[in-house]
Amino acid sequence: MRIKTEELTRKFRVGSSEITAVNRVNLEINEATFIAIVGPSGSGKSTLLNLIGLNDQPTYGRVFIDETDASLISGRRRREIRLLRIGFVFQTFNLLPTLTVLENVELPLSLAGKSQEEQREKAMTLLENVSLGDRIYHRPKELSIGEMQRVAIARALANDPETIIADEPTGELDSKTAKETIDLLFDINRKRKTTVIVATHDEKIVEVADTTYTIIDGKLGLNTN
Ligand SMILES: Nc1ncnc2c1ncn2[C@@H]1O[C@H](COP(=O)(O)OP(=O)(O)OP(=O)(O)O)[C@@H](O)[C@H]1O
Ligand SMILES: [Mg+2]
Repeated sequence: MRIKTEELTRKFRVGSSEITAVNRVNLEINEATFIAIVGPSGSGKSTLLNLIGLNDQPTYGRVFIDETDASLISGRRRREIRLLRIGFVFQTFNLLPTLTVLENVELPLSLAGKSQEEQREKAMTLLENVSLGDRIYHRPKELSIGEMQRVAIARALANDPETIIADEPTGELDSKTAKETIDLLFDINRKRKTTVIVATHDEKIVEVADTTYTIIDGKLGLNTN
């Protein structure tokens, strides 16, 4: 999946003030690359990921998915892209607390209309791949923090997305589990050729990224180091 933005801008109005969270961002992300986006708190990282992930609509400018202007894609098709072609990973995992680990990973497969049998088989394989084959009946609160993030990554991979979008995936993790998570994302990128786009403060992620961008006050620049 090729993602391109053109003068991408998102403003928020709060009371009488206006914030330009993402300011005329021009970005091109080729297939199978590992991209890091760094920048201080409040600089616009999450806002940018929400736009690229078709979670939000720009105030001006465009997002292109492959060659298609995302603003011309219907709501139903956008939801389909988000379900089938993009996997999302969050800082606080966003697992459903009442579901087991297995059910959490089955959910996107179920939403994609896969049979019960397919759901189970795929979810099991993904959980085994992240070394959680022996935790499938646990609820999220019965896991370590690092295990929770691995469930979230397994869930993100459920429908074999072409792109993973991760917002500070190691923000809550200690350095050891952070490293495991980074290795996992890197492996997914290299082996599956999944594009990985990560917003992060983590230098260790920057080290493995093919390209790193810095965002400051909504303005994106390319790191040249
Ligand atoms: N829904 C919203 N309404 C109003 N302002 C918002 C909204 N979302 C974000 N902002 C503002 O936009 C700016 C960018 O926020 P964003 O969450 O993208 O930053 P960030 O780089 O992800 O920060 P952090 O590293 O703390 O996660 C901030 O100034 C924030 O206050
Ligand atoms: Mg953020």
